[in-house]
Amino acid sequence: MPSSFQWIKFSQWAEEFDSDILHLEVAGANYIVLNSYDAATDLLEKRSNIYSSRPHYTMLCDLVGWSGDLLLMPYGNEWKSHRKLFQQEFHPSNSSLYLPHEKKALCAFLKSLLDAPEEWGEHAQHLLGAIILGVAYGLHVQPKNNPDIKAASKMVDIGINALLPGEFVVDNFPILKYVPSWFPGASFKRKANSWYGIRNATITPPFMKVKKAMVNGTAEDCLTLRCLQRFDCPDSRHDSNLSVEEEIIKNTAGTMFEGGSDTGLTALLTFILAMLCFPHAQREAQEELDEIIGKERLPDHEDEDSEKYNENILIKSVFSFPWLWLYLTYRFLAVPHRVDTDDTYKGYFIPKHSIVIPNVWDKTYGPNAHLFEPKRWLLKGPGQRGWRLNPNMREPTSISFGFGRRACPGKHMALSSFWLSVSSLLHSFNITPAIDRDGNPIGPKVEYVSGAANRPVPFQCTIKPRSEEHAALIRRALDSESE
Ligand code: HEM
Repeated sequence: MPSSFQWIKFSQWAEEFDSDILHLEVAGANYIVLNSYDAATDLLEKRSNIYSSRPHYTMLCDLVGWSGDLLLMPYGNEWKSHRKLFQQEFHPSNSSLYLPHEKKALCAFLKSLLDAPEEWGEHAQHLLGAIILGVAYGLHVQPKNNPDIKAASKMVDIGINALLPGEFVVDNFPILKYVPSWFPGASFKRKANSWYGIRNATITPPFMKVKKAMVNGTAEDCLTLRCLQRFDCPDSRHDSNLSVEEEIIKNTAGTMFEGGSDTGLTALLTFILAMLCFPHAQREAQEELDEIIGKERLPDHEDEDSEKYNENILIKSVFSFPWLWLYLTYRFLAVPHRVDTDDTYKGYFIPKHSIVIPNVWDKTYGPNAHLFEPKRWLLKGPGQRGWRLNPNMREPTSISFGFGRRACPGKHMALSSFWLSVSSLLHSFNITPAIDRDGNPIGPKVEYVSGAANRPVPFQCTIKPRSEEHAALIRRALDSESE
């Protein structure tokens, strides 16, 4: 198992062996790497009845206390009851439940960019945490140093460290979980002890806040409140002895942090990096936004479906361009599936309990998929007015959110919140390179951290309002959100 940037090595091997399916045997475990979209959909979607489980993460689930996390649960009844709740809440027809929370957090984000533009990275991290706290618990938090967001980011970092295939020897040899922590070589055990309980300590307080607010009649509409009401959970019980239903609700709300915060942040940072790399795209998209939205208001969710917006192909491709989604796709090597029974594919035998990793860099994107070339997504027939999307190109978001029954249930919320964040950012701000001491622009460096959190390496940039009018618009929007 390569120790870093596994996806690159897997792609090289796929080419070297001329195969879109690879088998690795690592410390007794079978890993199957699927290196094409077709192989990934053939197995993870078309045979999803047997390819929908997860490998057992002994470190995270048995030693660190993450077994209640939907992302890690094996396929079965427990997973189904959690997943059902999640899907009901995040069904596209329920978007009105989370859009107001997204909008509120976004206004605060834009205002903090005005107040302290040099802290843009922190504001971005805060934005994602604030959206989740709003949607999951109806909490509206101050722009800085929120303890719930800090705790959540510590918890997510643990997951990121422990999710990489082969990261902890105890995942391949579960018997090792019984060795005492003083035993030579048992550093994983000491790490597990220091991590144990962090998840519960992070997701319990906001859940209990909702229960308490329910008793007082002050709870805001949110996922936790709706689910407690749906299951008819007694609001008077706010001790720590939770019923089975309450545990499911607490875990489901808590899973939002692991599923949505780091992924959303990576998307947003990648977008900002892309705008630095492709200034012409930024300018042209801003011109189109000016034409569609104007300077009197900020973009709103309704704009996303408007005819005018959809005719403006450049904006559409700026927001969904492959570069961004492909990087995100790479990032998700880290959520493998597990096959429950022996299987055969293209003549190859796949043993029961193999860990199956999709690693998809789709060939339809062409050799320079990392370049911003919106026109590869567009077609203009002879005598036709305007461009239309090229049906022969694969929509990158069909890959980035995973496959089959385990595909991301937060996809619609993720896309809507990403759309609103980046269109508001471009509408009101210019994203330009930072300037060094000699007054020269610092060129953007496109580098990613290897690991389950494939975030861009920290980079500098300047984010400034496009005009005083734009700044005033943001202040007004925040005032009306706070009323
Ligand atoms: C840019 C944002 C996001 C990306 C790229 C993303 C991507 C993914 C991917 C690739 C998976 C694994 C799918 C598989 O195993 O085949 C996943 C799972 C999951 N995601 Fe997301 N996600 C994003 C945002 C969100 C948000 C906002 C939420 C919560 C509202 C969320 C909740 C989840 C959950 C709960 C799972 C586990 C599903 C299961 O195992 O059954 N994600 N996501």
